[in-house]
Amino acid sequence: MGMKEKIAEIHQLMATELGKTDGTQALENLRVKVLGKKGELTALLRGMGQLSPEERPAAGQLINEAREKFTAMLDSRLQELKALEREAALKKETIDVTQPAPQPEMGSEHPLTLALHELVDCFTGMGFEVMEGPEVELDHYNFELMNIPKNHPARDAQDTFYIDDNIVLRTHTSPMQARAMLTKKPPIRIICPGRVYRADEVDATHSPVFHQMEGLVIDKDVNMADLRGTLNAFAERLYGKGITTRFRPSFFPFTEPSAEVDLTCVSCHGKGCRICKGTGWIEVLGCGMVNPKVLEMCGIDSTVYSGFAFGIGLERIAMQRYSVPDMRLLYEGDMRFLGQFK
Ligand code: PHE
Repeated sequence: MGMKEKIAEIHQLMATELGKTDGTQALENLRVKVLGKKGELTALLRGMGQLSPEERPAAGQLINEAREKFTAMLDSRLQELKALEREAALKKETIDVTQPAPQPEMGSEHPLTLALHELVDCFTGMGFEVMEGPEVELDHYNFELMNIPKNHPARDAQDTFYIDDNIVLRTHTSPMQARAMLTKKPPIRIICPGRVYRADEVDATHSPVFHQMEGLVIDKDVNMADLRGTLNAFAERLYGKGITTRFRPSFFPFTEPSAEVDLTCVSCHGKGCRICKGTGWIEVLGCGMVNPKVLEMCGIDSTVYSGFAFGIGLERIAMQRYSVPDMRLLYEGDMRFLGQFK
């Protein structure tokens, strides 16, 4: 077969293959197949050594012309393919402005907020009023008026964050008792939810920032049975029938007598489980009859009035209510956790 025929054959191959290329990569493969180092036309060029010296110039010219021609064919196809690819890309990126927009993801209330709302509903239903106060608090309210004077050992137990000698981040919501008694006249029935701070360890059940809800009732003839009845009503209202309270004697400088209160474990209904560490009870609050000393310091005649107070740990309630095993989950803002409260 002469050089012309061989070239014609490659030309034929080029023509059919070129039409089949569906992208710039396929085209590049074809270019290598024909013009590459081991390509068909390159093979012809190599074979020139076998020709007689007279034949070589003509053959060389034919091959060079073919190379130019093929290169031109490949180039023009490359332009075509590039145009097609650009068109496809544009089509893919086209935005249909008439399409309905994707719905933005809706947030949900935080479990602590949910628990807070339930508590507030429960106590406002019993005639309590919500009162809020400062998180940056005077030592005077946080300690002095709560019968925790300077050098009192109870101050150590509070692990206080001090701003300066007289100002602290409140270690409990109890200073709101004093603020209420000093600004309101009995009968007083208030709850004060809010953030409190303690230089505590951070673990599954402790955080340096947490939430409490203070409750205070001041009236004539208020006794411990009223306190117990109020807390039992709260337990039942929040968790349903069969959930009750257990009072354990305790000590707080601002209440006398004082108690620590456990709630029937909601997970096992008192049978004992992992969450209540087998006891059937969960500690959720501290309470007691307002210490007459505190009443007097806050301008209330303790011979006429008495009262009770309680401080509920909001995290404990939320964890119990929603079976949250680790307090840190409440603060990390992990969407996989929070999304479950929609
Ligand atoms: N303030 C106490 C605490 O933070 C709780 C409490 C409030 C106890 C009211 C008695 C009365 O632990």
